[in-house]
Amino acid sequence: MEERKLKELLSDMSIEEKIDQLLQVTGYYFEEEGVVTGPNNQAGFMQQEVDLAGSVLGIAGADKLIGIQKKYMEKQPHRIPLLFMADIINGFRTIFPIPLAQGCSFDPEIAKTGAEVAAKESAVSGLHLTFSPMVDLVRDPRWGRVMESTGEDPYLNSEFARAMVRGYQGDGELSQPYKIAACVKHFAGYGAPMAGREYNTVELSNRTLFDSYLPAYQAAIDAGCATAMTSFNTLDRIPSTANRWLMRDILRTHMGFEGVLISDWAAIEEIIHHGVAQGKKQAARLALEAGVDIDMMTTCYCRNIKELLDENKIDSALLDDAVYRVLVLKNKLGLFENPFKDANSQSEENVILSKEHRKLARQAAVQTMVLLKNEDQILPLKKDGQKIAFIGPHTDSPYLMGVWSIFGRMEDVITIKEGVKQAGVRDASFYRGAPVVSDLAKLELQSEVRKQIEADIKASKDLLKEALLAARDSDIVVLALGEHPAQSGEAASRTNLHLDPLQLELLRQVKEINSNIVTVLLNGRPLIIEDVLADSKAVLEAWLPGTEGGSAIADILFGDVTPSGKLSMSFPRTEGQIPIYYNDFPTGRPVLGKKEKYLSQYIDCPNEPLYPFGYGLSYTEFEISPITLSCKILSSAGLIQASVCIKNTGHRAGAQVIQLYIKDEVGSVSRPNRELKGFQKIYLESGEEAEVVFDISTSMLKFYDNTMQYVCEPGTFKLFIGADSSTENFVSFTVE
Ligand code: BGC
Ligand code: BGC
Repeated sequence: MEERKLKELLSDMSIEEKIDQLLQVTGYYFEEEGVVTGPNNQAGFMQQEVDLAGSVLGIAGADKLIGIQKKYMEKQPHRIPLLFMADIINGFRTIFPIPLAQGCSFDPEIAKTGAEVAAKESAVSGLHLTFSPMVDLVRDPRWGRVMESTGEDPYLNSEFARAMVRGYQGDGELSQPYKIAACVKHFAGYGAPMAGREYNTVELSNRTLFDSYLPAYQAAIDAGCATAMTSFNTLDRIPSTANRWLMRDILRTHMGFEGVLISDWAAIEEIIHHGVAQGKKQAARLALEAGVDIDMMTTCYCRNIKELLDENKIDSALLDDAVYRVLVLKNKLGLFENPFKDANSQSEENVILSKEHRKLARQAAVQTMVLLKNEDQILPLKKDGQKIAFIGPHTDSPYLMGVWSIFGRMEDVITIKEGVKQAGVRDASFYRGAPVVSDLAKLELQSEVRKQIEADIKASKDLLKEALLAARDSDIVVLALGEHPAQSGEAASRTNLHLDPLQLELLRQVKEINSNIVTVLLNGRPLIIEDVLADSKAVLEAWLPGTEGGSAIADILFGDVTPSGKLSMSFPRTEGQIPIYYNDFPTGRPVLGKKEKYLSQYIDCPNEPLYPFGYGLSYTEFEISPITLSCKILSSAGLIQASVCIKNTGHRAGAQVIQLYIKDEVGSVSRPNRELKGFQKIYLESGEEAEVVFDISTSMLKFYDNTMQYVCEPGTFKLFIGADSSTENFVSFTVE
């Protein structure tokens, strides 16, 4: 529709119609199976509100959505179509690894492909928009939603944010086939809840917000992300959803976001719980003034805006602007011409969970797994000639998708047992060994799943006994341990990040019988694993690898693919080190190898994490040469090249992620100990070598100075190139 017509449409709409364009309700109001992803607070919408609501969340299915759209448009006075949105986070039905794992691939193309697959499957099912990418920077693994982020680094997160937006939306018009709109979230700072407790207060200095937290949102916006979502938290004591400075001055003016801003689930009403509005009417006014366009799942907007207008408490232009942005989005998606977009049940059959999509999910999953330890080169295992017992609650479990796979189905998942069988392993046996969790207290589980786990808890002694017999009788034991997916994700903060006690007991007892232990971890966050390392010869962090998880794990365990994943988040030694992240700051009393009392250190634990950001082993060996600089002086408009030679000195082909870090030695404000500024994933045959070159420019060295100007300050810099963030391979250069 032409812009002129869209404006005419707006001016022709009644006040009620306008206000309800801003209302979003769950699919529950259209059919009973809608997925619930927030507190079901009986928002209690009236039929006439639902009849005019501008968008719906959490339902999918071509025929269903076509039916709902038809019925809706018959009642809609201007035949304005509904927008269908849902949380498609790491896949629609073909589930890719969780985003934290995708970050570990250090290969944004994987995320782009995953987003393309997700967009295609979603689009044919009738969806128009996904609430992804979630680009919140994370430094605290107690927070369950670290699984939804690509990790602790602003640069890495930015690369993935951009890739995901491109994957969902494509490079052209949103109306193109198989593309859906993206929604960058949660703006802003939601990844930093104090003490890792979900929905808790966020305290960030503006400098930290601007330097570390905003870049990934900015990358999504620069990639053309159509929509953004407010965060639940307060920032500087102001709930984001009511924060006019954050949403108007920063998001729209400073960062250039022009799209639709949606509240998170019930976040407008929650302004009241934060103690910043007295009631729904005030909450509605604050959110609208802050520039929040869509009200997800509350009656704040639809029951109060009219009154606010009548009492002259808000300007009608505020309402018109918000409604117009929603209409523009619908128009960009081509919904006025074709309200069903790509919804098509025949396409659903061809596209969803296709062989091709499964293949891509498997290729992605193998890239995301991180080999943490491999003593005596126990891995890779042999398909023939080794008797292998696979033991543990994840051995044959379909719990490999992560909680944000709302349309994923457990029956589609290739379990480890199935993956190993498909791989043609001659002598393998499989045992559960222990329940996946021994305390179900606060876990929200489907009743079937709950029953199964309860049965395992009751039978735990027998499960253990049977597993130990198998361990005694085998050459190798592969233990598949970890979390249940319900232990990570939204509203799943934990204070104890160890494996479940019954899993640890299983590990301990197996160790007494057979020390050839390979542990595969399946979990949604960095766990505390010193005990696991001590008792295992090899540890593979497989995260929650998705629909093809079992096949991908077999690919890695048996050496069909050499692992190449690198941690996107530091692994702490103990919960007491949290928050712990590599790009932290120097102090006035740095340790620097000294053994004295009055230094910035713990008396009961090293400062260093168990594994640093960027860490991960391979089945082959790589040598990285010292760094060569094309010039030691960088001028403001110039470039210098930093290069290393990398050689695969081992016996297998494999990929290495070469990482570039920079440290600004002296600044007008204290600068991080090092910052990731580039990475390249290089694949080499055994014996092969390659030159890796990075361009260094002053634009990479900018930060917010002591007057909050974004500048590169002259001075000396250290430049590191290596295989993880703790590398000591460095040279110095000067900026004039
Ligand atoms: C989450 C969002 C999500 C929304 C809709 C909220 O609880 O914080 O990330 O997009 O629900 O499901
Ligand atoms: C302490 C001060 C103390 C000073 C002199 C410093 O290390 O931080 O509290 O007054 O030494 O003893």
